[in-house]
Amino acid sequence: MKTPIRVAVTGPAGNIGYSLLFRIASGAMFGADQPVILQLLERNNPDSQKAVKGVMMELDDCAFPLLAGVVNSSDPKAAFRDADVALLVGARPRSKGMERADLLDANAAIFVEQGRALDESASRDVKVLVVGNPCNTNAWIAMKSAPSLPAENFTSMLRLDQNRLMAQIAAKSGKTVNDIVHPAVWGNHSPAMVPDLEHAQICGRPALEGIDRAWYEETLIPTVAKRGSAIIEARGASSAASAASAAIDHIRDWVLGSGDRWVTMGVPSDGSYGVPEGLVFGFPCVTKNGKYEIVKGLELSDFIRARMQKSIAELESERDHVAKLLAK
Ligand code: NAI
Repeated sequence: MKTPIRVAVTGPAGNIGYSLLFRIASGAMFGADQPVILQLLERNNPDSQKAVKGVMMELDDCAFPLLAGVVNSSDPKAAFRDADVALLVGARPRSKGMERADLLDANAAIFVEQGRALDESASRDVKVLVVGNPCNTNAWIAMKSAPSLPAENFTSMLRLDQNRLMAQIAAKSGKTVNDIVHPAVWGNHSPAMVPDLEHAQICGRPALEGIDRAWYEETLIPTVAKRGSAIIEARGASSAASAASAAIDHIRDWVLGSGDRWVTMGVPSDGSYGVPEGLVFGFPCVTKNGKYEIVKGLELSDFIRARMQKSIAELESERDHVAKLLAK
């Protein structure tokens, strides 16, 4: 039997946690022959802890053959101990009347603490995926708070945006997602994201041959960028199953490899495409042997570049806002 992979998950009592944990335990993340140990980190209050207990009871009741253990803690250092993968899902949601700056501050405090705990107790090769919003800036904070871990271990989730883009193109073109290659989403996981079809192909032909450019710019881009709000409007709750599924996709491809497919990941910029170094930014990547590489050398149109500038400006402003907290 293979050595179990230790997967730390924060926010296990939340909506995404409830979809995510069962799929990890069933083998969807690492394959049907790879055992896992789940290491849960939830807030230390009676309601949250009671809810985690219920989730753990259900995990027991599934009798997953690949689930080699589940531990729960409200101490980040204990929850991240020797973790090979850390899914940072739990975050402070925006409450009514809360300013964006307050949201950034509240989350910065969480991700400073969790970054420091990862630094102290996780595996040196830990693969970190930040889902909790604002995920790019939260990933940047965690990365900066973990100076002894390689910066490239820290990523944020834009895979849901890529999946949404693929689903929209498939519906428009009458094809399936399997017929679409090389879609990308650049930038921040926010309405400033840049869904990019300029390199995508549908059934081996350039996507923009078969898809009207005006529809792409005026309908597709805002549809993908505002999909989260549309789900809340329809469901009365935010995307949870699709977010969990995207987190599975992100880690599975990072660990097992993407082949020739491009996968959108929020990763610390190496300066490619004029994105300031260190900013955690959505790039098309390919993955192999547990490492990702940003797809290099793409020609970007003025249209894409101009939109990327908005994401860069937004992320720089978030970074500058939270940078002062790191010094404390
Ligand atoms: P939720 O509110 O249902 O659950 C969050 C859970 O995290 C709660 O159980 C809460 O107690 C816990 N939590 C809060 N602070 C914590 C801390 N310091 N340590 C451990 N646990 C903590 O929220 P949901 O729907 O599960 O979403 C989680 C996050 O994911 C949100 O920030 C949401 O905006 C984000 N999200 C990101 C997406 C992306 O594509 N990057 C897509 C969808 C959601």
